[in-house]
Amino acid sequence: MNIKPSISAATAVLFASLLFFGVLSVQGLEPEDVIFFYLSQQWASSKCGGERGCCYPKTGKPASGFVIHSLRPENFVNQVLKNCDSKDQLNPSSISGMTSELQEHWPYLDCPSRSSMSLWKSEWRTYGTCGKSVLNQTQYFKAALNLKKKVNFLDVLIKSGIKPDGQFYKLNDASEAIRKAIGYEPRIFCIKDKSGNSLLNLITGCTLDGTQYNHCIGTLGYESNCGPSFKFPPLK
Ligand SMILES: *[C@@H]1O[C@H](CO)[C@@H](O)[C@H](O)[C@H]1NC(C)=O
Repeated sequence: MNIKPSISAATAVLFASLLFFGVLSVQGLEPEDVIFFYLSQQWASSKCGGERGCCYPKTGKPASGFVIHSLRPENFVNQVLKNCDSKDQLNPSSISGMTSELQEHWPYLDCPSRSSMSLWKSEWRTYGTCGKSVLNQTQYFKAALNLKKKVNFLDVLIKSGIKPDGQFYKLNDASEAIRKAIGYEPRIFCIKDKSGNSLLNLITGCTLDGTQYNHCIGTLGYESNCGPSFKFPPLK
C-alpha cells in the first residue's frame, strides 16, 4: 500500500479495532466482556529502597531480581476488574504443587512480614475471581509462573547494556529491549526513592490466556510514570 507509515499504523489500529468490534458483536460480546491479563514483575530492590521499604516473607528470602507483583484482568475498555466473587476463596489445595515455587517468585514483600499465602489469597479474591472464566485458581498461579519463566527480564536488560548498577538508563531503551524479547511493548512503572529519583519498579506484559505474551488492544493510552530515565538499583 502506498500510504505514509504514520497513517498506515493509525489505519491498522483503527482497522483492527473495527474488526475486533465486528467479531465481538457477532459473538454477542460487549467490549467490557473481553478479558485479558497484565502480568507485572517487580524489581524487588527498588521496592526495598523505595519510601515504604520492604520485608521478606516468613518463608525466607525470595528469588533475587524480578518477582511477580500481580496478574490482573482488564477488559477492552481499560477497566481493571476487581472483586468479582467474594465467595470464591483461594483453596490452598489448588496451588499445592507449586507453593515453593510461588514462595520464591511471588513473595509478599510488604511490612510487617507475613506468609505469602495471605498475598495469594487476596490477589485471587481481588483480581483472579474476575478472570476465572479464562483461568481457574490453579491456572491463574501457574500462568504467572510460566510467563515469568518464559522470558527472564533481567537477562534481557543486561544483554542490552541496562544493568542493575545504580545508574540511570533511558526508559525507551529498556522498553525496546523488552519489546524485542516478548514481541510487544511493555508497560514500565517507577517508584520514587527518598531523594525523588525514579526507580525501576514494574515491567508489565499482557496475556490473553496465560500461555504467552500477547498484544492487548486495551494498552492504548498507557503512560509511564518514570520520566525519560530511571535508576536501576543493584540486586539485593
Ligand atoms: C482448572 O482447569 C483445569 C483444566 O480444565 C483442570 O484440570 C483443573 O482441575 C482445574 N482446577 C481447579 C482448581 O478448578
